[in-house]
Amino acid sequence: MANTFKFLGLLLVLNTLIYSNGQFVHVPRNPADLQAALKQQFTLSCQYVGRDTSGEFLEWYRDTMPVKDEKPGHYVVKTSDKESNLTIKIFVKNDSLVRSWSVKTKKPTSGGIACRFNQIRLIQSPQRITTDKEVLDASDSSVRRIEGESVNFACNVEPEDQTSYRPKRVRWEFSTDNHNFGPLPTGIEETADNRFILKIKEVKKIHRGYYRCGLNNRYFTVLLRVKDRLAALWPFLGIVGVVLILVFIILVFEKRQKTTRKAAATTNDEDNTRDPLVRTTNKSSDNDNKKHVVKA
Ligand SMILES: *[C@@H]1O[C@H](CO)[C@@H](O)[C@H](O)[C@H]1NC(C)=O
Ligand SMILES: *[C@@H]1O[C@H](CO)[C@@H](O)[C@H](O)[C@H]1NC(C)=O
Repeated sequence: MANTFKFLGLLLVLNTLIYSNGQFVHVPRNPADLQAALKQQFTLSCQYVGRDTSGEFLEWYRDTMPVKDEKPGHYVVKTSDKESNLTIKIFVKNDSLVRSWSVKTKKPTSGGIACRFNQIRLIQSPQRITTDKEVLDASDSSVRRIEGESVNFACNVEPEDQTSYRPKRVRWEFSTDNHNFGPLPTGIEETADNRFILKIKEVKKIHRGYYRCGLNNRYFTVLLRVKDRLAALWPFLGIVGVVLILVFIILVFEKRQKTTRKAAATTNDEDNTRDPLVRTTNKSSDNDNKKHVVKA
């Protein structure tokens, strides 16, 4: 009897040892991969690799606060028997200030914690492109220039670097189809100091295409459309055309009026003979009205 108890006790100890010896696996596994860029989606995953069916996951916490108490929609938790995922839908600066992220389990582990992740570092990424005229907040926006005009693209990176004196270099690339990006077409200057600004002094047809700036494997793309000079004249020619047509119509109309006025002068007599007839019909209707009044 005593032996059986000892045996059970040993089993229990073994069990807790196994439980606390990593039945749960973190993804990302490498702490260096705990980094995100602004507005990016980021997922923390805790996987149960134990032999029984369920990891018995409970709740996710940011520091000591359950994430379910945060603004709805910002965090999404998906849990199955074998894993639990916390997805940060749109990573904001605030998320990078959280010291630790953890998910708890009903299983006996130290502190009931299945997985714990350290701070997610915020890394720099291109967040918008500004030109000499436009501010583009959405990637894949387009700008239009007429042949011969100039254009500047400035790549805006966030967060701004406060720790390092020298900003990191962004990389500009070009593509005609938005898939295969390569070197820039000729006649394009990258500003020497840090390459954040791309300058095209005289836009030509060959410059039409997609330009993207990249940093830390994140990209922001703008489409440059090039209008030829003659095409730029079309709206102006259109207006001139409409005006000419209007003038023509007015002239024709005036000429016609003159001729009809002349014709009217010759047929005036006939009109006079018709007039009395009209008057008699008017009179009869007047009489009718009077009758109605009397009846009433
Ligand atoms: C958790 O995320 C991984 C990828 O990170 C995915 O393969 C898996 O299906 C997700 N699990 C759940 C329960 O959503
Ligand atoms: C995040 O922002 C909210 C308000 O927007 C604030 O209440 C909260 O304390 C912030 N959290 C951190 C870790 O800064």
